[in-house]
Amino acid sequence: MKKTVGFIGWRGMVGSVLLNRILKKKDFLNFNFIFFSTSQFSFKNPEFNRFNSNKILKDANNLDELFELDIILTCQGSDYTNKIYYKLRNSGWSGYWIDASSDLRMKIDSVIVLDPINKKNIIQSIDRGIKTFIGGNCTVSLMMLALGGLFRNDLIEWISFSTYQAASGGGSGYILELLKQIKFLNKYLSKDDNLSKSILDIEKKITKITQKNSFPIKNSLVPLILNLIPWIDLDMSSGQSKEEWKMEAETNKILSLKDNKKILIDGTCVRIGSLRCHSQSFLIKLKKNIDISNIEDIISSDNKWVKIIKNNKNDSIKKLTPLSVTGTLNIPIGRIRKLSLGNNYISAFSIGDQLLWGAAEPLRRMLKFLI
Ligand code: HSE
Repeated sequence: MKKTVGFIGWRGMVGSVLLNRILKKKDFLNFNFIFFSTSQFSFKNPEFNRFNSNKILKDANNLDELFELDIILTCQGSDYTNKIYYKLRNSGWSGYWIDASSDLRMKIDSVIVLDPINKKNIIQSIDRGIKTFIGGNCTVSLMMLALGGLFRNDLIEWISFSTYQAASGGGSGYILELLKQIKFLNKYLSKDDNLSKSILDIEKKITKITQKNSFPIKNSLVPLILNLIPWIDLDMSSGQSKEEWKMEAETNKILSLKDNKKILIDGTCVRIGSLRCHSQSFLIKLKKNIDISNIEDIISSDNKWVKIIKNNKNDSIKKLTPLSVTGTLNIPIGRIRKLSLGNNYISAFSIGDQLLWGAAEPLRRMLKFLI
């Protein structure tokens, strides 16, 4: 019999990307999907004809309804998870909880899902009776897919990273705000569109516009356009941001590495004004000296999404940019070279769509293991 999946948070950005992937890959043929809403239940949605399931939205806060489900798939966010998960578990619900938000990731009885990297662990965990499967942080998942071959072959001593993270990582409000900032600038610039002025006068004028009190910065707190923000997520009070902390913590959990085998990973996470692709620059210390063509072979043979971009200017500027990756499952990695620091030190630069492999795709693929 088909399992019943309750889908919550399918209207949001990650949820919509996930819904599209489920439709595209026809996953709805394998499950009975029921759509829930935290606000508009009883609302009829004819779009769900394709799912051949209940066309009336159910109440996502109704524990009795949720209790009947085999699987809950939620992209509703942390507040919902914290409100419902423990109540449901405490009431004896033993279904599978699959979640895009971060709250349950580091729990001892949850698994972070990224099956091209930890499929064995996912399958063994299902067999052991684990019922909570959580998508990883986007930067972590994208880094691991890019460097999967080096992780799998135990070649990494440590990684230092700098990220260039898209507005979408902050939520749809961030993207909207970025667009409002563009519009705001354009409004003021077009009033006096005299580009024959001295470039320094134009630069001064633009900077002044971004400093206006009415400049839209409710989400990002400072302008994101023409700027960058070198802090993402909470302050861990250790000097690290939470986004930076997640890189080492989640990676080692995904790889099931115990404390004495942990790979050290640290660096700086930065928000930039790209729309939905996160880019990352890596400085990697390998455990041994391997030549670049071997490194490229090891990386490219690990999974079918990672693609080596040759380390030259033309390929780098055309194939290793957020705009060339957006909306795809590709994980290009380039700028791979030995550093002057020594034979075991390499650099690499990688990109991935933050909403696809960074959020929705690992959750969609997790469903397949539960058929
Ligand atoms: N933490 C990420 C970001 C979102 O802020 O870009 C993806 O998990």
